[in-house]
Amino acid sequence: MLGKIKSYTKKDNLLSIEFENGTASVTVVTATIINFFSPHLAQRRVSKAIENLQTSSTPFSIDADADQLTIRTKKLKILISTDFKTDIYDTLGNPLCEDYRGDGQPFVRRGSSAQLEIASQEGHKIDEQASGEKIKIFKKMAENTYFYGLGDKTGHLNKKDYHYRMWNTDNPNPHVESFEAMYKTIPFFIALRSQQAFGIFFDNSFESTFDFGKENSDYYAFSAKDGDLDYYFIYGPSMKTVIGGYTYLTGRTPLPQLWTLGYQQSRWAYTPENRLHEIADTFRQKDIPCDVIHLDIDYMDGYRVFTWDKKKFADPTRTLTDLRKQGFKVVTIIDPAVKKDKGYTIYDEGLKNNYFATDKDGIPYVNQVWPGDALYPDFANKTVRHWWSKNQKIMTDTGVSGIWNDMNEPASFNGPLPDDVHFNNDGISADHREIHNVYGHYMSKATYEGLKEATGKRPFVITRAAYAGTQKYATVWTGDNQSLWEHLRMSLPMLMNLGLSGITFCGTDVGGFGFDCTAELLSRWVQVGAFTPLFRNHSSIFTRDQEPWAFDEQTEAINRKYIKLRYQLLPYLYDILHEEESNGLPMMRPLLLGYQSDEATYEINDEFLCGDQILVAPIIEQGLTSRMLYLPKGDYWIDYWTKEVFAGGQYIIKKAPIDVCPIFVREGSVIPLYPVQNYVGEKDVKQLTLSIYPFVRSGQTNYEHYQDDGESFNYRSGVYNLYDFSLKQVNEHELKMTLKRPHAEYDHAYHSFKFILNRINDPKIIVDGQITPFDAAGEQLTFQADDPKEIHISY
Ligand code: GLC
Repeated sequence: MLGKIKSYTKKDNLLSIEFENGTASVTVVTATIINFFSPHLAQRRVSKAIENLQTSSTPFSIDADADQLTIRTKKLKILISTDFKTDIYDTLGNPLCEDYRGDGQPFVRRGSSAQLEIASQEGHKIDEQASGEKIKIFKKMAENTYFYGLGDKTGHLNKKDYHYRMWNTDNPNPHVESFEAMYKTIPFFIALRSQQAFGIFFDNSFESTFDFGKENSDYYAFSAKDGDLDYYFIYGPSMKTVIGGYTYLTGRTPLPQLWTLGYQQSRWAYTPENRLHEIADTFRQKDIPCDVIHLDIDYMDGYRVFTWDKKKFADPTRTLTDLRKQGFKVVTIIDPAVKKDKGYTIYDEGLKNNYFATDKDGIPYVNQVWPGDALYPDFANKTVRHWWSKNQKIMTDTGVSGIWNDMNEPASFNGPLPDDVHFNNDGISADHREIHNVYGHYMSKATYEGLKEATGKRPFVITRAAYAGTQKYATVWTGDNQSLWEHLRMSLPMLMNLGLSGITFCGTDVGGFGFDCTAELLSRWVQVGAFTPLFRNHSSIFTRDQEPWAFDEQTEAINRKYIKLRYQLLPYLYDILHEEESNGLPMMRPLLLGYQSDEATYEINDEFLCGDQILVAPIIEQGLTSRMLYLPKGDYWIDYWTKEVFAGGQYIIKKAPIDVCPIFVREGSVIPLYPVQNYVGEKDVKQLTLSIYPFVRSGQTNYEHYQDDGESFNYRSGVYNLYDFSLKQVNEHELKMTLKRPHAEYDHAYHSFKFILNRINDPKIIVDGQITPFDAAGEQLTFQADDPKEIHISY
């Protein structure tokens, strides 16, 4: 217990407080982001998540009276009292987040140890009560609070009443709601109450827990086994602002190469070489677009990372060049564990230079992974990261386009790594307890930097394990799911919560990794996959084939239809990711993120928004061919397939035969589309299509479209184009559009535009004063213009 406040000093944004029994500090990062810190482990502080934080001076005042300090920023009032208790209010004095007074009072698990003994004979286990926590923060639970975030934990979107553990875990059993720990540690959550949101980021890499009222409904709490008390309060009140604040701290997903948004096909394992070619050729023969094929562990020579099995791939460079000619990029898996094998360069170099984690006596630590006895590179050491970065060139020189980092929790086959395994931690020695949860994060960082240096292009890294901030370096997937309807269902809240936790570029193994997929399950899963940021079908060895054509003609046609739809939507998806670089907002969003004032959206697990214009309400139950769905209040929604209009704020029943995924477009939307291509870059897109969804009554909106070369970092020095489309619905029969080009530095601008007019009949179209003909062939009404500035449509 820190005791009473003795004194304080203020310097710039930092308020240092001396208590009777220790010290603490409050940093006013911005008027809405406040850090609370108290050293426990040592007087040192190295955030693994936050790098190069730019703070500028933020005005705030401090008033001191008998026992407490009152801090006021433009947006918040914060009271600090005895024992570093903190209570946060908005400027009107409404409580936002108050510390709970009193000790924790967890519910009791009844039963004697003898009964436990008996129960365990049949394999029953009790959940361990948390123990050995050095830091625990209790917050008062206010009524009707909803909790979101924490990365890809299982269960529902709202985490209220559940308890979670942050300890990166590779558990091959089917993921279920009762799993407390998964592969990632994203110790960040958002609390939403009375339409107001704030976030808390607990920046502590030791094993931690989050309890949202399960232990006791009077409080929620977060704790850690060691490390410092170090957390950020991030005020909204809009959730979008909270996510903006969290990603301002931990970083944002950099714009990826455009092809990474294409369809990706994976399997453990597409080897040998002729199988890989067979897969590639089948995509092209069957007219199913695909950009990427993944090579799982079997391409390696005896699972030695950065090697190729020459019996399976006689000349990998040639193979990859041939695939490249067909438009395929190849991504190879790289695991962290290095085979213990004298004469194997990576092992020899690592051993000679002390690059591996050691036991407490400094002897390189050995466990077992795919290659048998293996060692773990100490990614917490900059020098080791640099070495690992350089190794990426071995792969890119062969023509590899991206790297898939797996098993980096780190996983081990011979029991867990002991707590005292030692890491360098950039010069501040640390043990496994502190590094475990950031191991995958540091590995991704090393991979990202290596790919960037080797290729100069935007790196494509996929990782399974992650920590807060990994979004700066890697795309993630949700690990080893199974071909179960339950896992399709659960993937939606998992991916939505990842997005709310700063990880916008994420996906799940489409079709399911373990177990055998069915035709119907794959058909429904690809309908979801088409709208998830990472769109990769992946399955395990010995499971039934799961490629788009692996079942029957109908399933193949459904895969083709949704993969093609994905390719049409590429410019829209790319726009979302471009915007994300400046606002941190995910591509796949729970409805509540767009409609915070509509409380009916707060618990919707089975629908999502793709960006802010498209709503997807997939079928995620076997046999269903219609479903009930909710359309958020305040907007009209247009059925993408039938163009029927529905007012928001109601539940509707939608028919959805096996080839139909219910999709709705918000009124007033402008959706940029590309022609379908077999792979990104196959066609030189000179004409941009804009699908226009007029407002039902009236309204006004702007859509900004972004265009660049899709692969280099030149956009950071301004080499890109922006197209600003504004729509003004004057009345039910009159629409005005203007087009501007606020930024035009990329010399590959579109030559012309094609407009699709949805829900407009028999219009009179005037483009820059000229009556323009339209084409009403087929179902769509379209017209074209080269360089329109003002368009007037009456109908
Ligand atoms: C792990 C990965 C999985 C991969 C397999 C073999 O289980 O999660 O995606 O296919 O290892 O490398």
